[in-house]
Amino acid sequence: MTVYLDYAATTPLRKEVFDCYVTFLQQLGNPSSVHSSGQKVRRALEEARESLARSVDCNRNEVIFTSGGTESDNLAIKGLYWQRKAEDDKRNIIISAGTEHHAVIDPIEWLEKHDGAEILWLPVDSEGVIDLDFLATFLSEKADSVAVVTLMWANNETGVITDIPRVVEIAKQYGIPVHSDAIAAFGHLPLSFKDSGLAAMSISAHKIGGPVGAGALLVSRATKLVSLVHGGGQERGMRSGTMNAPVAKAFALAAEIAVNELEPEMQRLKKLRDYLVTEVQSIAPVAKHTGSKAQRMSHNAHFTFEGCSGDSLLFLLDQQGICVSTGSACQAGVNGPSHVLVAMGRSSRDAYGCLRMTLGQESTQEDIDLFLKALPAALEGALKAGLPS
Ligand SMILES: Cc1ncc(COP(=O)(O)O)c(C=O)c1O
Repeated sequence: MTVYLDYAATTPLRKEVFDCYVTFLQQLGNPSSVHSSGQKVRRALEEARESLARSVDCNRNEVIFTSGGTESDNLAIKGLYWQRKAEDDKRNIIISAGTEHHAVIDPIEWLEKHDGAEILWLPVDSEGVIDLDFLATFLSEKADSVAVVTLMWANNETGVITDIPRVVEIAKQYGIPVHSDAIAAFGHLPLSFKDSGLAAMSISAHKIGGPVGAGALLVSRATKLVSLVHGGGQERGMRSGTMNAPVAKAFALAAEIAVNELEPEMQRLKKLRDYLVTEVQSIAPVAKHTGSKAQRMSHNAHFTFEGCSGDSLLFLLDQQGICVSTGSACQAGVNGPSHVLVAMGRSSRDAYGCLRMTLGQESTQEDIDLFLKALPAALEGALKAGLPS
C-alpha cells in the first residue's frame, strides 16, 4: 500500500475531472474555426473560462489559459517587466523574495543576466515571513525605478502565507503592478482575484486535482504585458496558440470542486495535520516544526530533523511505501540544501534535514498513522547515515 503525502508536488486527478477531460478530448474542432464543430469547442472553452473566473472571483476576460504554473509565472514576470521598461526605460528593479519557487526566481535572474534587470530580494525572517515594512520603506525612496513586485501567496515548501493584500496596498500608492504566484495557495485558501487588487496571479491545475500541463494567468483588465509567444493572437494576444479546450474544461471543473469543498476540507486537513505535527514532535524531539508561529496553510507540515539529511529520510520512508518530499519536486535530485530554508537564514546543516508532508483530497487518518509508524525506523537509519560531508 502506498501512502501519498506529497500533494504540494501534484495531486491525484479527480474521477469527475478525468471523465470530463476524456469526453472533451474526443470533440473535433479548433475553437477559432468558424464552422459549427469549431464553435461547439469554442463554447466549451468559454464555459470553462467563465467557470474558472467564478472560482477565482474575476472577470472572464481576465483568464489567460497557459500550459501551467511555470509558464504563467514567466509570462507575468517577463511580460510585466518588458511592458514597464518599454513605458519608462529607468524602471528596471524587480522586487521579490528568496523563498519563491524557481519558476519565479529563475525568470528574474534571467532578466538580470540578459536584460538589465536589478533585483531586490526582500528580507525573510526565520519563520519564513517576508519583511513588508522593508518593502514600504524601499518604495518610499526608489519607487520610480521599480518595474514590478512579485511575491507568492503561500510558500509551497513551508506553507507560510504572505499578506498579499498588504503588498498590493503598499505598491498601489506608487502605481507598481504586483504579481502573485498563487499556485500553492489556490484550492487551499479562500482567494479573490478581484478583491486582491493584483495585476496578475498564477494558478496551476495539477495542484488541485486537475491535469498536468494546464494553468492560467489572471491578468486584470487594466494591466498590459508583453507576450512571450507570438502567433495567432489568442488569449487577448497574450498567449498565442490553438486553445486547449479539453484541458481548460478539466481545469475549470477541478477548480470548481476544490473551491466548493474548500471550507470543510481546510477544517478536515487541519485536524489531520495538527495530529501529525504533535505526534512527530513526540516521536522525534529533534524535529523542528518550520514556521510554527507564522500564518500557515492547513494541509502542510514541514520539519527539519537535526543531524540527518532529508534525502535519506525520504528514501527510507519510500522503502516503506510512504511518499513525502524534502521540498519542491522541481528541485528533487538536485544536491544541496533547500533554497527556501537558506533564504530564511537557516544554516546549510539545518536546511539539509527537511521533510515536507502535504495532505489533500484523499488523505485519511490511516495515512497519517502509517506514516507515523514508519517514521522511527526511517529516522534511526537517516541519523546513522548522518549528513553529506
Ligand atoms: C509555488 C509554485 N510555483 C510554480 C510551480 C510550477 O507549476 P507547474 O508545475 O504547473 O509548472 C509550482 C509547482 O510545483 C509551485 O509549487
